[in-house]
Order: sequence, then C-alpha cells, then structure tokens
Amino acid sequence: MGNQLLKGKRGIIFGALDPNSIAWKVAVKAHEEGAVFTLTNAPVAMRMGAINQLAAETGAQVIPADATINEDLENLFTKSVEILGGKIDFVLHSIGMSPNVRKSIPYTETNYDFFHKTLDISALSLHRTLQTAMRLDAINEWGSVVALSYIAAQRVFPDYNDMADAKALLESITRSFGYQYGKARKVRVNTISQSPTRTTAGSGVKGFDGFFNYADKMSPLGNASAESCADYCVIMFSDHTRMVTMQNLFHDGGFSFTGVSAEVVERCAE
Ligand SMILES: NC(=O)c1ccc[n+]([C@@H]2O[C@H](COP(=O)([O-])OP(=O)(O)OC[C@H]3O[C@@H](n4cnc5c(N)ncnc54)[C@H](O)[C@@H]3O)[C@@H](O)[C@H]2O)c1
Repeated sequence: MGNQLLKGKRGIIFGALDPNSIAWKVAVKAHEEGAVFTLTNAPVAMRMGAINQLAAETGAQVIPADATINEDLENLFTKSVEILGGKIDFVLHSIGMSPNVRKSIPYTETNYDFFHKTLDISALSLHRTLQTAMRLDAINEWGSVVALSYIAAQRVFPDYNDMADAKALLESITRSFGYQYGKARKVRVNTISQSPTRTTAGSGVKGFDGFFNYADKMSPLGNASAESCADYCVIMFSDHTRMVTMQNLFHDGGFSFTGVSAEVVERCAE
C-alpha cells in the first residue's frame, strides 16, 4: 500500500510506453505513495494507447509532448500546474532513443543526422525540460528532477553505440543545470544509473541478453529490477533526500564497483 512518502506532491512522469517501461513502474509506485501527477510521452508513442490504461489505474491525465520541442514542453508544464492545482514537486525524465541503434549502424560508421537525433532526444531533452520549468517557475523549492542513465557514460560497452555519448552528456547536463537550478530555486537534479533492464529501449541494444547476464553475474546483489529502480526514484522525489543534487547515483546491485566476480572468474577458467 505504500507509506505515503509522496503525499501532497505533484509530479510529471515522462516515458511510460508499456508495462515494461521503468517509467510505468515509477508511476504505479508514486501513486501508491500518495503522489498526483500527469503522464507524458511523444505523440507517436501514444498511438499504442497503453498509457491510457496506466492513466486510468493511477488517476492521471495524459499530456502528449515531444521532449525535443520547446512548445510541447511549455504546454506540458503549464497544463500540469493547472490540472494538479499547483507547482510541480518532481519530474521523471525516462527518455532514450537512438536511430543509429535502431538501424544497427556501427559506432564507427555513425550517421550524423541520427547522432544529432540521439543527443537531442536522449540528452538535450533534459536541458529543455529544465529550462522550460525554470522559465515558467513551475517547480517548487526542494523539487526533485530525476533522469535515468546507464554506466556506458563512464565505461565502454561497445554495442551501446552513440547512446553512451548521450548518457555522458545527460549526466553532464545534470551537474551543470543542477548547479544553476539549485542556486536559483533550490531545485535538485540527479541521474540514476540503472542496471540493464528488459524494456523496449533496453532490448533494442545489440547483444542485450549477453550483457544483461554478464551484469547479473558481476553484481554481488544481481541486476536491479525496474521495480526497485522505481523505489529509488520515489525516495529521490521524497523529502528524505533533500540535500542530494548533481549526482549520478548507481542503482546496479554493486556492478559499478566490482572488478570481477567469482562467477565470471570461474567462467573464464573453463
Ligand atoms: N532498459 C535498460 O536496460 C536501461 C538501463 C539504464 C537506463 N535506461 C534508461 O531508462 C530510460 C527509460 O527507458 P526504458 O528502459 O524504460 O525503455 P522504454 O522504451 O520503455 O522508454 C523509453 C521512452 O522514451 C520515449 N521517447 C522516445 N523519444 C521521445 C521523445 N522525442 N519525446 C518524449 N519521449 C520520447 C519513448 O516513447 C519511451 O516511452 C531511458 O533513458 C533509458 O536509456 C534503461
């Protein structure tokens, strides 16, 4: 039933495409914890209609917005404040897409128009979101913005392709805008760097099963599930983490600090 950790809080949740989406799990948990929020996704993603089911389950309204279009984001924040009856306390940025990954174009052969799209959708969209919110003064003091990242921002995972560069930029924007927004309005901005997770975006990466299983064997606690990622998001939206900002927070069962595990050593000795 939850502990009402988000009672009285208003939010915006980007990126719930289907029940596997990390954002979907976050919406379910945030609802259980007493939050009210709007749901948003790119208009093309709405065609599948699954988001309406989530909206009905969580009592949320859906506002379409392409996160690469400023006017859409302005409309999203303005309408959300109206619908929810006040300024926003939390935002989940759960957005990622690379046309190069989708079309299996190798990193060394990248198509630069696609590369621009990858960066625009997967990283600059966070900057646009923060800029829009700041201009409209739409987020309350001590509000919390969380974006989802992946450890390919720090280490090489060859098939993660240009998404690795997008995540590095996403984490950099988190620090740079986090500083500015913290100083100006005491709004915090963080990324959560999540384990490989079986979702539409995750499974689109070549060799996903291989690196899902590898990460699971390398992590002392095993891979973190989408549900536990949602729990972490809830805590980051809550008042229990008020002094945390500009961080990249690993949520990966210990993967990021493990050099090698007994299971991997055993496999390599075979
Ligand atoms: N799945 C994993 O293994 C994994 C691991 C670490 C981090 N992440 C990150 O988690 C986030 C959520 O991904 P997911 O795994 O839940 O997959 P998902 O495919 O369910 O979610 C990605 C979302 O991005 C949305 N999106 C794409 N283009 C958009 C645009 N122009 N405007 C607005 N929304 C747009 C999609 O419609 C979709 O809802 C992404 O940032 C992803 O990189 C995923």
